[in-house]
Amino acid sequence: MKEFRSDISGFYKLPLKERQTQLAERLGLDQEDIELLRNLGYFSPSQIDILIENVVGSYQLPMGVALNFKVNGKDYIIPMVIEEPSVVAAASNMAKVARKLGGFLSEKVKSIMISQIQLTHIQDIIRVKEKLLNNKAKILEIANEQDPMLIKLGGGAIDLEVREIVTKKGEMIILHLLVDVLDAMGANVVNTMAEAVSPYIEKLCEAKIYLRIVSNLATQRLAKCRAVFDKDLLGGQEVVEGILNAYEFALADPYRATTHNKGIMNGIVALAQATGNDSRALEAGAHAYASLSGTYKPLTKFELDSDGNLIGEIEVPLAFGIIGGITRNHPMARLALKILKVESAGELSQIAAALGLAQNVGALRALASEGIQKGHMSLHSRNIAKLAGVPDDLVEEVAHIIVEDKKIRVDYAKEVLKRIIKNKNL
Ligand code: MEV
Repeated sequence: MKEFRSDISGFYKLPLKERQTQLAERLGLDQEDIELLRNLGYFSPSQIDILIENVVGSYQLPMGVALNFKVNGKDYIIPMVIEEPSVVAAASNMAKVARKLGGFLSEKVKSIMISQIQLTHIQDIIRVKEKLLNNKAKILEIANEQDPMLIKLGGGAIDLEVREIVTKKGEMIILHLLVDVLDAMGANVVNTMAEAVSPYIEKLCEAKIYLRIVSNLATQRLAKCRAVFDKDLLGGQEVVEGILNAYEFALADPYRATTHNKGIMNGIVALAQATGNDSRALEAGAHAYASLSGTYKPLTKFELDSDGNLIGEIEVPLAFGIIGGITRNHPMARLALKILKVESAGELSQIAAALGLAQNVGALRALASEGIQKGHMSLHSRNIAKLAGVPDDLVEEVAHIIVEDKKIRVDYAKEVLKRIIKNKNL
């Protein structure tokens, strides 16, 4: 047998179809596999082939919609792309609970991104700092020359921050270029600006610049949202007490805070995926923000109002965009934005914060009462029933029985199916 090798020369230059064929040949894929690769869904080959390198197929995930959301008095249906059962249901349920007492209130989210420029080999830190601040106008001018359209729309580079850090490679100055990116996520815009101003700064400061790149810790793009969750709809006093205990647990223990925040990101990332936003940037920013105090903390806060209802708050940096990237090129992302009816990136971030908060309350409510497995398992049981070959019209019935009997297994689903067929004389 021929040796299997992963170094396929010129692979990226091949037409998509040829790439699929070569891959199939090398791996001995069968006809079914090849057909799966060839099925690009709603993408045309030319559309998908330019998104990333070495494209060989299209990968689909379900898109669901979370209902019942009211944010700042406006109703939203929120598209979510996620593979995990229960998440969409939990968000919708908690939005319903929050709705009773007015829904979510979210502060305006600014659209300022930070780009970092790393100055090294510095002779005189104080002098360099002075030079940067004294020449701020020129630096902003060069930055703004890069994107006349952004300036025309009211955005652009607006300020500088000069930071000093001590490293094993000596002292460095980190210059933050603050850019109002309006409705974009903004990484491209700020990276272009940072690269453009660097030659001028290098000369001005007689320093060596290495990195010129966006910071995903978007502290100038904080989304803050709050809602009051009706105690009775949540399940009563005892459940609320459980949620408060869960919150204290997360506050005191980074192991728990991580999972607590993961639940929040279930919502935020699902919305990011649906709208073609960069979920890795959002994740990185959220988790870094959670640890900004030096200890990893939950991104939400909880307390009671005077009637014993649960007040929930979230604060998280959210760099969402509604233009740029694939937000308008990806057919489903475009549709997701249409479903959302948002008019700005800031509005999308407000919704994302509300969704994250709802998701968190949903998870804590389940954890503090019946546990999350029940919800998970009821969806999982349908998959198991399907895997066991249960016909579509009997899936619900079989799924229900295997959950009730706490035997969510393919062999048991087959047994149940046989029983049903026998009893019904099908
Ligand atoms: C599962 O995806 C998310 C949870 O683990 C979140 C949490 O524990 O708070 C349920």
